[in-house]
Amino acid sequence: MDIKVAPSILAADFANLADEVKDISRAGIDFFHIDIMDGHFVPNISIGPAVVNSLRPHTRLPLDVHLMIQEPLKYMDRFIGAGADIITLHIETIKPQKFKQQAEKLHAKGIKIAVSLNPDTPVSRIKGVLEAADMVLVMTVYPGFGGQKFISSVLPKITEIRSLYSGDIAVDGGIDDKTARLAVKAGANVLAAGTYIFKAKDRKKAVRKLKYAH
Ligand code: DX5
Ligand code: ZN
Repeated sequence: MDIKVAPSILAADFANLADEVKDISRAGIDFFHIDIMDGHFVPNISIGPAVVNSLRPHTRLPLDVHLMIQEPLKYMDRFIGAGADIITLHIETIKPQKFKQQAEKLHAKGIKIAVSLNPDTPVSRIKGVLEAADMVLVMTVYPGFGGQKFISSVLPKITEIRSLYSGDIAVDGGIDDKTARLAVKAGANVLAAGTYIFKAKDRKKAVRKLKYAH
């Protein structure tokens, strides 16, 4: 499986977001990972739909909006209106039945839907929605902050999901060239990375290193 790289703009310079997005769009990436935090589901606050909307004209690449918010259904449409191409919902915030309903709605609009799970959430919680999901985003840190350490005890969970699911499996949190290799070996094929890419001296090289992390 080809490895896809999705930079998390959480690690970008927020005062220069347009330039950051343009710069990284040329670094051989596959899509953007945009972290939305509400101070409830996670102990931090990031950005809302207005920022996504302002970024939209600066890249043609897809925008994956990772909703780390308590009430995703209340705000989802606003992120779609702002230009999201993929909506990532946490299984801790939505019932499987509701997820499947949303999948139908989004697919009818040509928008993809992904399911995410926290490090301590078992695979059994997402089993019922795998068929409806376009991607699984496995958290390899507890969500809320960039720059945390990769939790390697999550690796067997990636392998378990791979045994049930042939679509895209992404990992998010603490990804660098070394942890990427472990995640890919375990069965992941999409690497969301913030700090490793944006803080790199040579961003293109950092992306390339992730792409060939196997
Ligand atoms: C964590 C976010 C991640 C984070 C990744 O709450 O969901 O996407 O920005 O950042 P790094 O790569 O710095 O761990
Ligand atoms: Zn994220």
